[in-house]
Amino acid sequence: MNPLVIAIDGPAGAGKSTIAKALAADIGIEYLDTGAMYRGVTYEVLKRGLEATDIDAVSRIAQEVQFVQTRDSLHVNGVDATAAIRTPEVDAAVSHVAANSAVREEMRARQRQWIADHGGGVVEGRDIGSVVFPDATLKVYLVASPLVRAKRRVAQHGGDVDEIARAITERDQRDSTREDSPLRRMPDAVIVDTSDHSVAQVIAEIRQHLAERGNVAERGNVADSSNVAGGNNLTGRANSS
Ligand code: DC
Repeated sequence: MNPLVIAIDGPAGAGKSTIAKALAADIGIEYLDTGAMYRGVTYEVLKRGLEATDIDAVSRIAQEVQFVQTRDSLHVNGVDATAAIRTPEVDAAVSHVAANSAVREEMRARQRQWIADHGGGVVEGRDIGSVVFPDATLKVYLVASPLVRAKRRVAQHGGDVDEIARAITERDQRDSTREDSPLRRMPDAVIVDTSDHSVAQVIAEIRQHLAERGNVAERGNVADSSNVAGGNNLTGRANSS
């Protein structure tokens, strides 16, 4: 039997991390943040004083870098980089690193290995349903209005809403128009709008789609969504999205 893989894709600030973590906890399976991996490579690149646009140097870093990743943390070459991968500097550089095909090839291989090692999981990113796991059990494409997305980022990391909105739009533009594995919604993905919904509502909607695909009950804890904090909206609950 194929492992249970739930792909959560969508633009920055759509609520991916909050939802993917809560969903994984709810079902009782593991969670992988693939954006953190691209951020981890970027962190190491900047730390060494390299340019994010230097294709060869960045590729080499991606091949060599050692990650230890948990649900809430990332160590890069033995250093706790959990906070450092969320700085504006990394935000600004990461989409250049993510556009590098050699980096993507390496990260894809690691992501597939992670699923093999963990026997399935909830995986969030930009190309999970389209490229990394095209046969995922369920593909979710999360969306939210631009203003809601910018406000969430500000609630998490501070800053000016207009400035953040501009930065998000720029990054989305680069992520959606790059040649290799651009952000796109697959025809077989379900679209879930998180703008005006609580975490519990979004989880319930995704659980409904999972139930329609059947066979999930045997693989994990199928308790209802009661262990998801009810009534919370998505703002400020995640350390990334
Ligand atoms: O989700 P995030 O903001 O942490 O992602 C950081 C960057 O990595 C963002 O520019 C998109 C990119 N990314 C990607 O290209 N493919 C993924 N599977 C995950 C993230």
